Amino acid sequence: MIAYFNGQFLPKEEVKISPDDRGFLFADGVYEVIHAYGGKPFKMDEHLKRLARSLKEIRIDLPDVEKLGTVGEKLIVMNNPGKAEYTSLYIQVTRGVALRKHAFPKEPVSPTVYISATSGVSQKEKIARGVKIILVPDIRWHRCDIKSISLLPNVLANQQAKEAAAEEAVFVRDGILTEGSHTNFFTVFDGQVLTHPLNNHILPGITREIIVELCCDLKIPFREEFVHEKDLLKAKEIFISGTSVEVTPVIQVDDGVVGNGLPGPISRKLQAAYKKMLDEFAQS
Ligand code: PDD
Repeated sequence: MIAYFNGQFLPKEEVKISPDDRGFLFADGVYEVIHAYGGKPFKMDEHLKRLARSLKEIRIDLPDVEKLGTVGEKLIVMNNPGKAEYTSLYIQVTRGVALRKHAFPKEPVSPTVYISATSGVSQKEKIARGVKIILVPDIRWHRCDIKSISLLPNVLANQQAKEAAAEEAVFVRDGILTEGSHTNFFTVFDGQVLTHPLNNHILPGITREIIVELCCDLKIPFREEFVHEKDLLKAKEIFISGTSVEVTPVIQVDDGVVGNGLPGPISRKLQAAYKKMLDEFAQS
């Protein structure tokens, strides 16, 4: 696989990361995951805009973030995804290499930029059948709006999910459902789609934004609202969203069954509309 590292395209095995890289030492960096369909990155501008915001929030100065889009497109071609269902672009930027001191390096250092392109097959069956989730305490920091590479709580939560034969762990903060370890979270009450308001406790998901637009197009009532853990199993439907899971219905929460145990009509409608959007994009 060809990767991009600090201005160069080279075989991934030849990428050499310094042990003094602040990403390695402090998880001092941010990232994006973008899927390409039909060889074209989906919502690239939105992802790059979010990357630029994450960088600004943690005070890493990287000029020309938009140029990373062109790099990503080149990488997709270089790795020749052929008939792959999608290619996943991973972009990571860290503060760079400096001797280990908590404060930013005194001398200016160049940020480390790494991009890879990996082809994959969509989890069609799971996405269609619906999945189980577990609820876990949200032990993350108060800046979940930044797409930080510091993901230990997410890693531990997702591992806990896998060990409980679940697909995702959804965080609960002060009794309120925030989001999943790598997904945004939605419920349906009284025919209305609800999701956590945009604030510092969730990532402003690109897929979440598309769902908001689809609800509007399909005339499905939508509201940003806090949902309490105690009310969750009264929801008629639950689903999660994200670049990797697209729109995936949730049919079980811990030991509780959601609705009648099958993906509900609103989840299916949004799922189909999202899939159609991806298919049309791939063929455009
Ligand atoms: N995760 N919330 C969290 C905590 C996430 O990490 C992600 C994405 C999302 C969904 O965002 P989007 O719709 O923009 O993909 C929500 C990526 C895919 C990951 O870490 O692999």
